[in-house]
Amino acid sequence: MNQDNKEYCESNLFNGLNGHSLISPIESVSNLVEPKIRLGILASGNGSNFEFIIKSIQNNELNAEVSILIVNNPSCLAIEKAIKYDIPYVIINHRDCNSRLEHDKLVMNKLEELSVELVVMAGWMRIVGEEIINKFNNRLINIHPSLLPSFKGIDAIQQAMDKRVTITGCTVHYVQKDVDSGSIIIQAAVPLKEKDSIETLKKRIQDMEHIILPLAIAKVAIEIRTSFKDKK
Ligand code: GRF
Repeated sequence: MNQDNKEYCESNLFNGLNGHSLISPIESVSNLVEPKIRLGILASGNGSNFEFIIKSIQNNELNAEVSILIVNNPSCLAIEKAIKYDIPYVIINHRDCNSRLEHDKLVMNKLEELSVELVVMAGWMRIVGEEIINKFNNRLINIHPSLLPSFKGIDAIQQAMDKRVTITGCTVHYVQKDVDSGSIIIQAAVPLKEKDSIETLKKRIQDMEHIILPLAIAKVAIEIRTSFKDKK
């Protein structure tokens, strides 16, 4: 190995991501879609992604407004965040519905009533039916904690650890009928560390989720506005 190669290898190649994360290249995203895009956020859990969407709006990184947070789980922490940031929210508990379709329709009606343009599943632990998918075609996105198409479904982080992959990550994608299968919008790669536990890895993946989800929203918002213009 000559000196140049040796230096290259030492500086780059063998260091891999050097413990850092990597975001997939996306065309420069302008946050200046006008007027603000109206978001509907669906959440079932802690709502950390929901909170980072709000922060991106507050920091002028995203020209959007959250028209509504919809939760299906009355005890989820996302509700506290909605109260903290004064965002309207509604609990539509699937346990009060007789069927998935009935629940989906209630969710869809609420989104339509508020003229939501883009629906973001930010930790929504429910499969959505075709009615919603068709209604919000190319306007319904989800965040998933793996580098899709690997490790679909629940426990994606554990699945990746069990397979002893060396790099995993997170993906924002359009929602299609098959779970975690729609076109990919943006991804972030997160290397595993030898001493990772599920908690440490989850934390690093979530840190990247909080970055890529607002970027994906900005990107899709531009696409929505462009396709609207095209139709005029
Ligand atoms: C995230 O890890 C997301 O990838 C998955 O659910 C989790 C939601 O976390 N779909 P939070 O409720 O946003 O904190």
